[in-house]
Amino acid sequence: MFGLDNKVAVVTGGASGIGEAIVQRFLKAGAIVYSIDLVNASIEGAISLLGDVSKEADIERLLAQAAAATGYIDILVNNAGIQPLGIPFSDLTETTLRRTFEVNVHGVAFGVKHGPTFMPERGGRIINTTSFVGIIGIPLGSAYAVSKAAVVQMTKCAAIELAAKRITVNAIAPGTVLTPAVTNIPNNPEIPFVSSRTPLGRLAKSAEIASAFHFLASDEAAYITGAILPVDGGITAGWERYDLPPPDPHM
Ligand SMILES: NC(=O)c1ccc[n+]([C@@H]2O[C@H](COP(=O)([O-])OP(=O)(O)OC[C@H]3O[C@@H](n4cnc5c(N)ncnc54)[C@H](O)[C@@H]3O)[C@@H](O)[C@H]2O)c1
Repeated sequence: MFGLDNKVAVVTGGASGIGEAIVQRFLKAGAIVYSIDLVNASIEGAISLLGDVSKEADIERLLAQAAAATGYIDILVNNAGIQPLGIPFSDLTETTLRRTFEVNVHGVAFGVKHGPTFMPERGGRIINTTSFVGIIGIPLGSAYAVSKAAVVQMTKCAAIELAAKRITVNAIAPGTVLTPAVTNIPNNPEIPFVSSRTPLGRLAKSAEIASAFHFLASDEAAYITGAILPVDGGITAGWERYDLPPPDPHM
């Protein structure tokens, strides 16, 4: 069950964190796995392709390179992303907005545009990485949250458009995950803040996110398309607690 034997998979952002865990999981399930990243993935058995997902020419060239050996790509995971947080609207710069959208939105769009060209007649899988903040609002992370909301909508639009080619398009919306993007920030306030508000009471490990990607990549998930699957310890299910008094309604 859930075997990926002889499937060709491409994972963007495969050199670190969630992407690295997906690469490892797909390799274990029997797939031939390529990572497209700015840096080399040091994972035994994975094939590293260097490129920038925000550049359409890079995506087109590297997907063709990944397809060259077998003639096709079965699974494309559009996962590479940057996470600018801790920025109030008053400090939001054009550079931050631009780069966040170029990587997190354009990067996924280029994958959705060019991935299908290399997918076989029997169909394929596209799985995008959004975030719980693409579903609920957060303070101090507007550029990031809005970019991830765009990935939610792109997933639904692509699912409809690509259904006739038997290509399913879904997204995983992780809660906060203990990856270098999160743990490399000294005394990151997001860690206690999010874990205390997550019903399951802790942050996720990358492997727990990768297992959901594995399921959606498998033949068993053939009838799932256009779905946004939260893997977030329940944080988008609703308020875990409410400890702020509302403003005085009489003022
Ligand atoms: N860590 C979390 O809490 C969390 C939560 C929800 C969603 N996500 C999303 O998961 C994805 C992976 O995040 P992560 O936490 O594993 O981050 P990470 O920083 O550990 O890994 C991201 C990888 O993407 C690569 N990358 C960045 N920009 C790129 C570009 N322009 N072209 C190619 N590769 C590029 C990086 O080199 C890195 O290897 C991102 O889309 C992120 O927004 C993360």
